[in-house]
Amino acid sequence: MGCTIVGCGKAAPSLVVTNDDIAHLVDTDNEWIVQRTGIRCRRIAQGESTTDLAVAAAEAALGIETDGPVGKSGWRCAHQGAAPLDPSSIDLIICMTISPDATMPSQAALVRQRLGATDAVCFDLNAACSGCVYGLSVAESMMAAANATRSCTRNPVKRALVIGAERLSRVVDWTDRTTCILFGDGAGAILLEWSDAPLGILSTFLKNTDDTDGHLTLGAAHGANPSPPFPIETPEARLSRAARQTDVLADAADSRRNASATPESGLDPEGFSPYIAMNGQAVFRFAAAAVVEAVEEACARAGVSVDDIDLIVPHQANERIIRYAAKKLGLPIERFQLSINASANTSAASALMALTDALAQGKLRAGDTAVMVGFGGGLTAGSVLFQL
Ligand code: UT7
Repeated sequence: MGCTIVGCGKAAPSLVVTNDDIAHLVDTDNEWIVQRTGIRCRRIAQGESTTDLAVAAAEAALGIETDGPVGKSGWRCAHQGAAPLDPSSIDLIICMTISPDATMPSQAALVRQRLGATDAVCFDLNAACSGCVYGLSVAESMMAAANATRSCTRNPVKRALVIGAERLSRVVDWTDRTTCILFGDGAGAILLEWSDAPLGILSTFLKNTDDTDGHLTLGAAHGANPSPPFPIETPEARLSRAARQTDVLADAADSRRNASATPESGLDPEGFSPYIAMNGQAVFRFAAAAVVEAVEEACARAGVSVDDIDLIVPHQANERIIRYAAKKLGLPIERFQLSINASANTSAASALMALTDALAQGKLRAGDTAVMVGFGGGLTAGSVLFQL
């Protein structure tokens, strides 16, 4: 009995933005970007929302064909048959994103509504670029608990959709050459099913490290945390709260209206940066070590040798990180899925999109064993080992 992967899909906006296109915006060039990252182009949303991308990837995983501006492709395991799966049969939707269309309702709630997944419980999960492995791990745990003895004490979870979707172009500083060359938009989805087959997810590994120096941030407060808009009241002050309340609200609204973002600092009126900021070298060092550890740990937990892994599907942040990990693990680079050249870094979506690529390219087949690896902001890292 276990949690098996029965479908996956990916979706991307139609606009292809090349390195040469970005060289018109910032002081960079194609050669630098290719050599340092492996990225040749990325997809950038024009009108497409995170919801559009997420729904298209989910539909691809479910085998639902629809026409729309978002290009999508998918894979379904043989026993699913040709007919599309009814979204109302999904019990759980987890959406991983750092660029949702709204904070509330959750991205997963927006996807649920559009898909017509009327019986699904849904919520968002933020583990930055490690989202795919955290999402899979949480879904697998919920399924295992729901299908264990005394399962009647929990929501039933037989089918789950785990979706990573990002519109990072919205949170990228297009004047910062150290970050804007790296990111792209897209979505990936995996459909999980609880089944009697002794396949599926065989081990998971999650690890957090404090990002004490703020090496990778988005929407972070800079300097002192902005004060809450209302004063913390003493008991005396509370007595006159009713009288003061209207003034305080009016003052807070006024100061917000009057404050303007300072373009020099890139901060919004309350001191939060709306953009991704990264110390590339520090994150590179963390990531390179994290991939090696995550692969080794997932294998050790499943009792499988690293040599027996057919394919490693890592988060696509930098081809050099993946090549470093291959060397350290003593594996040929062909044993790693490389999709970064055409998709760039799509954060929580990237490994899910890369998995769909691997299946489309025939690098992964039924019965094969693979490890997905995530690493990124938090700092987060982790892996999921599964047999297809
Ligand atoms: O998904 C979340 C996880 N993210 C990651 O894992 C990303 C990890 N970091 C990286 O991938 C790399 O650190 C980067 C690709 C971001 C940067 O590559 P690097 O080899 O670490 O470059 P660097 O920061 O050491 O910069 C080298 C030089 C500098 O110039 P000087 O000081 O040597 O004169 C930079 O100013 O390259 C310069 N540079 C650029 N030049 C042309 C930085 N960005 C660019 C650019 N084009 N876009």
